Amino acid sequence: MAAWCSGESTKPVFVGIYGAVLGGFAVSALFFLLSSFSSLSAPLLPLPTTPAAAANLSRSAPARPETMYNRPIWKPPPWGSRMPSPRAFRLTRDMVAARARDGVIVVTFGNYAFLDFILTWVRHLTDLGVDNLLVGAMDTKLLRELYLRGVPVFDMGSRMATEDAGWGSPTFHKMGREKVLLINALLPFGYELLMCDTDMVWLKNPLPYLARYPDADLLTSSDQVIPTVTDDNLENWREVTGAFNIGIFHWRPTEPSKRLAKDWKDLVLSDDKLWDQNAFNDLAHKIFGQPVEGQGDLVYSYDGKLKLGVLPASIFCSGHTYFVQGMYKQLHLEPYAVHTTFQYAGTEGKRHRLREAMLFFDQPSYYDSPGGFLSFKPNIPKSLLLDGAHTVESHFALVNYQLKQIRTALAIASLLKRTLVMPPLWCRLDRMWFGHPGVMEGTMTRQPFLCPMDHVFEVHVMLKDLPKEEFGPHIDFREYSFLENPFLPKEVKESLLEVQLCDDRNSRCSAVNRTDKHRPLLLPRNSTEEKLLNIFSSYKSVKIIQFSSMVDAFGGFSDAAVETKFRNRVKRYVGLWCCVEFREIGHIYYDMYWDEKPGWRPHPPETREQDHPPWS
Ligand SMILES: *[C@@H]1O[C@H](CO)[C@@H](O)[C@H](O)[C@H]1NC(C)=O
Ligand SMILES: *[C@@H]1O[C@H](CO)[C@@H](O)[C@H](O)[C@H]1NC(C)=O
Ligand SMILES: *[C@@H]1O[C@H](CO)[C@@H](O)[C@H](O)[C@H]1NC(C)=O
Repeated sequence: MAAWCSGESTKPVFVGIYGAVLGGFAVSALFFLLSSFSSLSAPLLPLPTTPAAAANLSRSAPARPETMYNRPIWKPPPWGSRMPSPRAFRLTRDMVAARARDGVIVVTFGNYAFLDFILTWVRHLTDLGVDNLLVGAMDTKLLRELYLRGVPVFDMGSRMATEDAGWGSPTFHKMGREKVLLINALLPFGYELLMCDTDMVWLKNPLPYLARYPDADLLTSSDQVIPTVTDDNLENWREVTGAFNIGIFHWRPTEPSKRLAKDWKDLVLSDDKLWDQNAFNDLAHKIFGQPVEGQGDLVYSYDGKLKLGVLPASIFCSGHTYFVQGMYKQLHLEPYAVHTTFQYAGTEGKRHRLREAMLFFDQPSYYDSPGGFLSFKPNIPKSLLLDGAHTVESHFALVNYQLKQIRTALAIASLLKRTLVMPPLWCRLDRMWFGHPGVMEGTMTRQPFLCPMDHVFEVHVMLKDLPKEEFGPHIDFREYSFLENPFLPKEVKESLLEVQLCDDRNSRCSAVNRTDKHRPLLLPRNSTEEKLLNIFSSYKSVKIIQFSSMVDAFGGFSDAAVETKFRNRVKRYVGLWCCVEFREIGHIYYDMYWDEKPGWRPHPPETREQDHPPWS
């Protein structure tokens, strides 16, 4: 696996921003002095939760009075009550005891930038009936939001900013330290700890699965992309080559676990540049390879005394086994979790992956854009999808065909001020951050496959507020599964106008006035900007306009300046494919306007000088 992509961000993992270590409540204290709950109004819930669901999650021991620790999740604090003192949010054994169930506590932590991820994470668990959870808040803004929404929260005590930070940044490295410190703080309380990153969601209650391996000190997820088992048992650790992933792992409060946690802490605190996951992997592999007697799927690890198991990546999924391989479907297994790794567009890309899979809980406004939506059927020719070998050439022919349609759709969406619902995107080749033969040998990736949008598009750039003067108006978009999402309101779903393209030379086509409401609107191909605006001005109240095709749907902008800005914008929307094997520079940039360049071929750059996107 040579030829690393220099233009590529490295290993995709969860990203956040961090401040100092546990301790220090000064900032929080100031915040609490200044605010009391009675003067605050409760914020909107991400989604209405039914009282029945909340009631079922309430503790079964009525003898205990309700406190902020054992209150049912999603039940807001009593109206008019004061915000508890900062001390009340300190992580203590009592707090954990109040929430733990059967000796297990499920924990995640983050900052305000990840509020929507955290609410999604909690909501999936409560929907599964799991309420023995706690969320660590790394800033007071998040702490307050979670408290008001009835999510059990504790103060990480770290004075940190509330924004997101890039992968590999100094603040990112500090985040790893928070996790290590938290594990060290929690294990002495004597509870089993299922530690999760907030960029993952639970799809099935994992606690019974974890209980199947009571002798394991540690059960960890991994970046394994090649299956080592075909059922739901732990991975065959002898064949695991992927790194252990610390985004999902389960610790039992045993002596070997505590020793590992302490060594891990000492290691990462001793070196600022050390990535916590690498440090963990190094420690886990210090002594490794002796099977546990009678339990062949556990291995002695770390100091030779820690019993470790590797959770199967087919059902404790990474961003590759879930979104790309769909391994659980192919093996007919029920997935427990998905972690948005193996992903190429930052935090925005992670959110988009979850949205594509309809696993993200958005605000109601997300499902009802004021200007309405535009969608289209991609009708990809069968030959592009299925004929011939799966090569770089056939992959680009397929993606380029789709790019051209999406470009047209973006233009029409921009013109009509509608939100574009992306079509599903098909790829013939996988994307990694290193050279590979198209799909990785041993994986279950099918060809062609429905690829995540971030394989081709720069999702984070598309969401950026690009200056209007240079890039024209923002174009909002939604994931391909949007119209099938059960959260789409009925009023939106049923307000649909179908549009069929027709040939202007056909007399049927010129009669653009739709006389029959049940028939699609006929629109001449290559219609001008004026014509489009004119026709669709009568359908402003229609929520969804659905084109049967985007091939030659639009004749072009009438104003050259508008066109230039649009081109500036959408050129930046596409990323790169990675990577051709055995080349120093193996990636190939997608080009939104490939069709305007006669003889365009998908070749990686020959020299460092040529190694830049086509628009720069
Ligand atoms: C609540 O629990 C009861 C009994 O355990 C069950 O019959 C009911 O369906 C549950 N309701 C919900 C909303 O889960
Ligand atoms: C639309 O325009 C394209 C490109 O100029 C052209 O190839 C095509 O024949 C046109 N189609 C119709 C129906 O006018
Ligand atoms: C469409 O037809 C209706 C009646 O058949 C008429 O009232 C309306 O003005 C027509 N609209 C256009 C845009 O021609």
